[in-house]
Amino acid sequence: MERRLLIRDVYAREILDSRGNPTIEAEVLAGDDVVGRASVPSGASVGRYEAAELRDEDERYNGRGVEQAVDNINSRLADQVIGMNVFCQEEIDRALIRADGSRDKRNMGANALLAVSMAAARAACTALKLPLYRYLGGVRAVKMPVPMMNILNGGAHADNALDIQEFMIVPAGEKSFREQLRMCAEVYHSLKSILRERGYSTSVGDEGGFAPDLKNAHEALRMIRDAAERAGYQMGREIQLALDVAASEIYDPECHAYVFRGEDQSPPRTTEEMIRYYENLISEFPICSIEDPLDQEDWKGWQLLTERIGNRVQIVGDDLFVTNAERLKKGIRLGAANAVLIKVNQIGTLTEAFKSIKTAQDAGYRTIISHRSGETEDTFIADIAVAFNAGLIKTGAPCRSERVAKYNRLLRIEEQLGEPETEMH
Ligand code: PGA
Ligand code: ZN
Repeated sequence: MERRLLIRDVYAREILDSRGNPTIEAEVLAGDDVVGRASVPSGASVGRYEAAELRDEDERYNGRGVEQAVDNINSRLADQVIGMNVFCQEEIDRALIRADGSRDKRNMGANALLAVSMAAARAACTALKLPLYRYLGGVRAVKMPVPMMNILNGGAHADNALDIQEFMIVPAGEKSFREQLRMCAEVYHSLKSILRERGYSTSVGDEGGFAPDLKNAHEALRMIRDAAERAGYQMGREIQLALDVAASEIYDPECHAYVFRGEDQSPPRTTEEMIRYYENLISEFPICSIEDPLDQEDWKGWQLLTERIGNRVQIVGDDLFVTNAERLKKGIRLGAANAVLIKVNQIGTLTEAFKSIKTAQDAGYRTIISHRSGETEDTFIADIAVAFNAGLIKTGAPCRSERVAKYNRLLRIEEQLGEPETEMH
């Protein structure tokens, strides 16, 4: 029997994200009484090729209001999806994309499209009385993700001198998610004590990691190594390190070089010098993953870097791929990177994000489901990570409830799944 439940109404409102900026929350009513609700996140270091977020750019909220995008949902997108079967996610997303009509979703706003896309999926799983991950992933959803936990913030996410945006810890994957989470939280607390003892600030950045005014990446990595060891973990075996350089933010197209403005007075680095910089870093520290090591346009550099260190380190395309299956296919063809960061709001509908996950998995690229630096209490990404056996999740420090909400959702999911099925990343 074909499942059928019609969308009766769609309603959106402006709410606040974790930075106090407006974002969209949408509700989809299916049948007489099934309501699905979802809200969209927002980035700070936004890739050039991301789908376009629609902002009001008027006097409210320093131009960051989303009243226009909300209105687009209530008065235009709603009409397109009312009457559709809530279980036909692909058809719903196609209708949303058609209603927008632009290449980068600038007309209606990718934030408007995504809010409806996500709320429809929530309504669908609610109607079936299934957890979201089970609705999205079916019987194949069996594997908990390993957290890549950002415990030290720099770049666009903090007001300190560090140019690298994220310093993460990654627990070895053979334990349960619950144990991995504990290990990471213990290292986080031990890092706090060490920073305090050494006279650094323990205030936090946008993703909940500490944002001390350290001199450079080496000092940050040493500090985290000390923290892991003090917490009783063997660095390199039980806990590894990961970076998100967000290099598009430090690339200067005028002089074709990467400029570390905050950390040191070192001269700008060419692509080759950046590659050597990473080779040195990974020989000194147990780094298992580097995200956005080079600029979003530097395909050749990405190829070269992947050739040089891709067999030892996970190389993750975030701004490079922007969750876009076409850009990802280009990277796969070129051998640029060996993993992709998946952020649903970079592309604007669930169907397109899921297509990118599948494209990556079919090509043997690893997948990391990711939050944005501006988040809400919505835990949708936790379910996506499990639904697609993504392997890894990036959702910040064990601090700030918009981050912790995702971890807590995963704890509940792990209980439902029973036997842990994590594996080494
Ligand atoms: P953003 O940063 O959400 O500010 O873009 C996250 C990332 O670069 O991974
Ligand atoms: Zn990134």
